[in-house]
Amino acid sequence: MSSSQDLQKIIAGRRAADFVQDGMVVGIGSGSTIAQVITALGERVANENLKIVGVPTSEKTRRNAAKLGIPMYNVDDVDKIDLTIDGADQISDDFSAIKGGGAALLWEKIVAFNSRENIWVVDSSKRVPKLNQYLPVEIIPYGSDQLFKRFTADGFHPTWRLDQNGNPVRTDSANYLIDLHIPVIENPRDLGQELINMVGVVEHGLFTDVVNRVVIGSDDGVEIIE
Ligand code: 5RP
Repeated sequence: MSSSQDLQKIIAGRRAADFVQDGMVVGIGSGSTIAQVITALGERVANENLKIVGVPTSEKTRRNAAKLGIPMYNVDDVDKIDLTIDGADQISDDFSAIKGGGAALLWEKIVAFNSRENIWVVDSSKRVPKLNQYLPVEIIPYGSDQLFKRFTADGFHPTWRLDQNGNPVRTDSANYLIDLHIPVIENPRDLGQELINMVGVVEHGLFTDVVNRVVIGSDDGVEIIE
């Protein structure tokens, strides 16, 4: 990652954290951009006496936020989530996104869809006219070879998500991930419906009709699209 991209993540993450208000239940996303949000929220908790409750989208986020003094609760332990701040792998002009590069897409989607408001925070490299990056799909391990063959037959060019030892990555829900390599996703809603209807698919990384505000870091500063 270039230092310019690092800087963009820092300024965007800090700006996004400003939207959190005292007393909120906050869904906290996953990834390197959200690490900046967590740092900024930790500082606000320590320095401004900000009182919030966090709901994590991954075990890693739960650990990192708790270390900074943010009380973390499971999604089923809160009445509602006021605001969720999360990253994205790509955001298209119609404000659809691909998520799941960090293997957290299932919890991210559950938290997002149980949140009153959603903010995505990204560096400028994530903005694209149309989604065209690998698409993560979380699947049940049982029967996963069969599903892989079906993805291949359907022309989705699947690859397994493997760890450094060559074993399938396990998500926080102990599922596998397959990445689909589709050159351009012309209609994210239709593709999302097709994937979710396939037996063995738990969830896919296409997020449509969910975001309220996008915070983008660039070399010129932070842009907010509402
Ligand atoms: C994790 C995600 C992340 O939000 C996405 O991968 C962006 O990560 P980063 O901020 O590190 O680029 O969807 O599942």
